[in-house]
Amino acid sequence: MKKIFAANWKLFKNPQETRNFFDVFKESFNKSEPEVVFFPSAVCLESTSHSLKGSSILWGAQNVYSNNQGAFTGENSAQVIKDLGGSYILVGHSERRSIFGEQNKLFADKIENIQKLDMVPMYCIGETLQEREKNLTEKVLQTQLEEGLAKADKTKPIVIAYEPVWAIGTGKVASPEQVAQVHQWIHHWLEKNNYKQVPVLYGGSVKPDNASGLISQPGVNGFLVGGASLEVDSFLKICSV
Ligand code: PGA
Repeated sequence: MKKIFAANWKLFKNPQETRNFFDVFKESFNKSEPEVVFFPSAVCLESTSHSLKGSSILWGAQNVYSNNQGAFTGENSAQVIKDLGGSYILVGHSERRSIFGEQNKLFADKIENIQKLDMVPMYCIGETLQEREKNLTEKVLQTQLEEGLAKADKTKPIVIAYEPVWAIGTGKVASPEQVAQVHQWIHHWLEKNNYKQVPVLYGGSVKPDNASGLISQPGVNGFLVGGASLEVDSFLKICSV
């Protein structure tokens, strides 16, 4: 399976900084390298679209609503992002779950709409530290998968990102053994539920110095990178492991 390296820029960078990043990144990025996807903040999507036009580098939004238009103040439309040339949408990131209170049912509606537009949802799942300590990791992931994918089209592309909440932005990376165990469990769940060829990415404090130990684990098909994707050099290093 082709490896995917995704950059979640969260609420960082303005349009000028976005253009500057891509000017440098495009010069050093080797086309034969794996699939790379950028998720800039919503206001920077148009500059991303201009910067990446004609390149093999993919991009998308960190969040959209489940409807493509209407009276939904403050939301973003997957259709508009598609019109700009975006192909991926992040769904269910732990910050959407914990800060904005979004739930699996809404993710199911978002995923359904994104797939109808022939875009690719990247669905994030992961347990909190408390849940891991209570041995609830698999139970939590199972509910997130069952409910979030309730309306998914198994014949269309989808990507899963496993991001243990306790490893996001904390510098505490999951051990290669923990990652291998969960990724194999997720692949097994996907196969059992008739999903074919679904990449499962790892996210949570991925850095240039831990990336090669993680990518060599069975079932790890790439990364979703936050902090370390904001600098060209560190993200390029991660993409070339
Ligand atoms: P991090 O973020 O790499 O800064 O831990 C990952 C994410 O939130 O997707």
